Amino acid sequence: MSADVWSGRADAYRGAADQQAGDDLELLVSWAEGRTALDVATGGGHTAGRLREAGFDVVTLDPAPGMRADVLARAEDIPFADGSFDVITCRIAPHHFEDVGVAVAELARVSRDLVLVEDTLYEDERVEEAERLRDPTHVRSYSEEEWRGLFDAAGLTVEEIRVVEKSRPVDTWLERAGCTGAEAERVKELLGDRVAGGEYVDRKILLRGRKR
Ligand SMILES: C[S@@+](CC[C@H](N)C(=O)[O-])C[C@H]1O[C@@H](n2cnc3c(N)ncnc32)[C@H](O)[C@@H]1O
Repeated sequence: MSADVWSGRADAYRGAADQQAGDDLELLVSWAEGRTALDVATGGGHTAGRLREAGFDVVTLDPAPGMRADVLARAEDIPFADGSFDVITCRIAPHHFEDVGVAVAELARVSRDLVLVEDTLYEDERVEEAERLRDPTHVRSYSEEEWRGLFDAAGLTVEEIRVVEKSRPVDTWLERAGCTGAEAERVKELLGDRVAGGEYVDRKILLRGRKR
């Protein structure tokens, strides 16, 4: 079960340098407005931590017990009433969701105003194969057009979209998901020149949506 897999990785994600910090995280947090926030799929809690430093009252949500979130739940089924928080954040997680459309509708429903999402941007089917081989909990990444459609269907107006590159040591990234040996070599082969000098560079898409 996916939640058990994630609980087993909790320490690795809490300590992961590329998850902990970066221009992407700073940009996402700079977009937040209001006083209360719900951080969905909080993982190692890095977005929640930066929001707290910025003065927000933050509730965290994640289905994996090992992530020690305030609320144990999936993004597809958020146990809060409509409009419960000023801002909802969800960073580097939707590509793991079984039903991203339902999840984005839930983010919009429990938000009073803003929904801020960051995720790995869809590149091509080779990268998708590499991502799934590295981490079987990877469901799918989405293109900018798909993200626009998801926000629109959830009643969110897209105010801003940014695409940023993110880099991390490829071997650390593979090990964090337990991918080693021949499989790890195959992942690197599939990623091709996206891996250079021992670093894997991918692109993240960040969206700021406001409820209509
Ligand atoms: C890479 S971590 C998230 C990183 C974190 N948001 C941050 O900014 O540091 C991915 C998280 O997604 C969670 N997750 C997986 N499937 C989920 C679902 N259906 N709903 C909510 N969270 C889910 C996992 O348990 C894991 O903690």
